[in-house]
Amino acid sequence: MNPTHQVFPVVWQDDHVMLIDQNQLPNEFDLVQISRCDDMAIAIKTMIVRGAPAIGVAAAYGMYLGAREITTHERDAFLSQLEAIADQLRATRPTAVNLFWAIERMLKTARQTLGPVSYMKQVLLETAQAIQQEDLATCRAIGDHGLAALPKQPAQLRLLTHCNAGALATAGYGTALGVVRSAWREGRLERVYADETRPRLQGAKLTAWECAQEGIPLTLITDSMAAHCMQRGMIDAVVVGADRIAANGDTANKIGTYSLALVARAHNVPFFVAAPLSTVDFHLADGSQIPIEERDPAEIFRIGDTEICPPGIQFYNPAFDVTPAELITAIITEHGAMSPASLATLSEKQAR
Ligand code: MRU
Repeated sequence: MNPTHQVFPVVWQDDHVMLIDQNQLPNEFDLVQISRCDDMAIAIKTMIVRGAPAIGVAAAYGMYLGAREITTHERDAFLSQLEAIADQLRATRPTAVNLFWAIERMLKTARQTLGPVSYMKQVLLETAQAIQQEDLATCRAIGDHGLAALPKQPAQLRLLTHCNAGALATAGYGTALGVVRSAWREGRLERVYADETRPRLQGAKLTAWECAQEGIPLTLITDSMAAHCMQRGMIDAVVVGADRIAANGDTANKIGTYSLALVARAHNVPFFVAAPLSTVDFHLADGSQIPIEERDPAEIFRIGDTEICPPGIQFYNPAFDVTPAELITAIITEHGAMSPASLATLSEKQAR
């Protein structure tokens, strides 16, 4: 991979954050400067930055940006105002647990840091930077573990992915697309098939753009074509990301992932979930407890400026669905690929 083509959706620069505006891709490559926590909360909610691990990184910086706006020098008052900032960021998007994980880590760091408030703020910035760097290393490990878990035949694989679980959705390498990148780097990828991912089209807009940056061969299909492709023997494995994985391995990811898993099972195509351990929510016994975000119906009834259905129609627009663990061949984290049933063995690693 040519490192000059690497994509970093969240960058700390001087005293502010620069975000790639993912709502403008692929037509415009715009950067948005974020200097205040309020603006970071808006950026997460409006999906300027999106994808579970990238949301976590952005929220960590949001916590620091909020912390530095606090004027008190008194420790307890600082910590209670930081809790209010955490609440504001938590209210942005409900499903991706990385958001809550990163906010909690920032709060814990603040509580455990002794010394003046100015020093606590400095440690918070360093922690946000550490979360970002760790995610990059984590995604590279996921990519390599994922490559090792992929079918050995054929020599060059045709992988299907859904939504965008790439560099744009993480600190910079990707989870599902991290596996694709590792396969490409090792000469094991024939091509990636990308679902367009209705309604927001992250596959068409983001995954296709990201792969084009590095010359990774990609074929774009609509979501409803995946079954046909598998029936025709065109897909060797499915690799998707995750927004929240329950303790039993049930996995919330972009709407349409569940139907993809059902189709994969019907056609005996292995179905992999690639995600950092921070995406596992060991507090939830199973996927029925995962909160599912519902978004603006306009995402369904409007394409560009055109309304595509008659007035007076009712809508339902869940942004995620839950794939039952039994449909998942393996979950790939930075600790390796394992069956969903074995996931619980990692809970102590997360606690550390
Ligand atoms: O609504 P989005 O675009 O934030 O949803 C993103 C996904 O569903 C991704 O697959 C998931 O967050 C994993 S990203 C590595």
